[in-house]
Amino acid sequence: MAGRVFITQPIPEPGPTLIRKTTSLVTANGEDRILSHEELVEAVKGCDAVLCLLTDRIDAGVLEAAKGCRVFANMAVGYNNVDVASATRLGIAVTNTPGVLTEATADLTWALILGVARRVAEGDRVMRADAFPGWGPMYMLGGDVTGRTLGLIGPGRIAVAVAERANGFKMPLLYHGRRPSPELDSLGAKQVSFEKLLEQSDFVSLHVPLSSETRHLIDAKAIARMKKSAYLINTARGPVVDEAALVSALREGTIAGAGLDVYEDEPRMAEGLSSCQNTVLLPHLGSATHATRAAMSRIAGENLIAVLEGRRPANLVNPEVWKEAGGH
Ligand code: DGY
Repeated sequence: MAGRVFITQPIPEPGPTLIRKTTSLVTANGEDRILSHEELVEAVKGCDAVLCLLTDRIDAGVLEAAKGCRVFANMAVGYNNVDVASATRLGIAVTNTPGVLTEATADLTWALILGVARRVAEGDRVMRADAFPGWGPMYMLGGDVTGRTLGLIGPGRIAVAVAERANGFKMPLLYHGRRPSPELDSLGAKQVSFEKLLEQSDFVSLHVPLSSETRHLIDAKAIARMKKSAYLINTARGPVVDEAALVSALREGTIAGAGLDVYEDEPRMAEGLSSCQNTVLLPHLGSATHATRAAMSRIAGENLIAVLEGRRPANLVNPEVWKEAGGH
């Protein structure tokens, strides 16, 4: 089955090899950098399928340029970088890679919970600066984790995996979401309102996709509801938090700290954030393990190949396209 495929950036195997076994018409950006919008528009012209990343802004302009293309296979679970409505209008399938990054992202969420509460990164900086004055009864005290309340906003797969780990830390669990989650319920979590979760949690961890409803969900007002001793953890998407408001809150001691893996305007972060010592700041590493990225690559490749071969892909984000077209 032939089909012209474009891969927007070098990715781990096995996705590229699987695709090359299906079609010889594969071109790729060989440079390890994000293509500019103009470059992307040029590169997708005449393609039947595109394998893209969360850093590629697949807007209406790119999709129009790719007219006739059958699929944009996003190598990410989140697909807020793709204008799905325009893709649907143009009859282009959009796919993502759910499931395979759940455990890695939950692990990293825990690295942030423990890291920020127990001042791990701050302590590391002290040692590297040769500034450890010696053990002291009042020295670098942090927040407790075991037995403290964990609040999960967005009751999806990653929240469930974070909650499973929390049981080991004997943490009472709260969650907020539109629907009840039988998985979270079975872990002893209690569904509460957004406001209650903010007010009662010692750790507020975000697990919602980015949408018009969740943009700036955590704004100055929401942060003000949190306990002064609480920590905000974000491994979801940066724009869910009003980062400028968070910087003010961290400076003023409205909350105790924040563990962040994602930023409002990646790869940049809000002015002042880097000088807030009560933070652990990671460069979007949630899914960054060898095995996870390989699994994401495989799934993105399989989704793309399925569409090229006329089969419904396993992870279709816009099923309307499939129904309307009766398959591609
Ligand atoms: C995703 O897949 O959406 C993650 O953010 C990648 O780490």
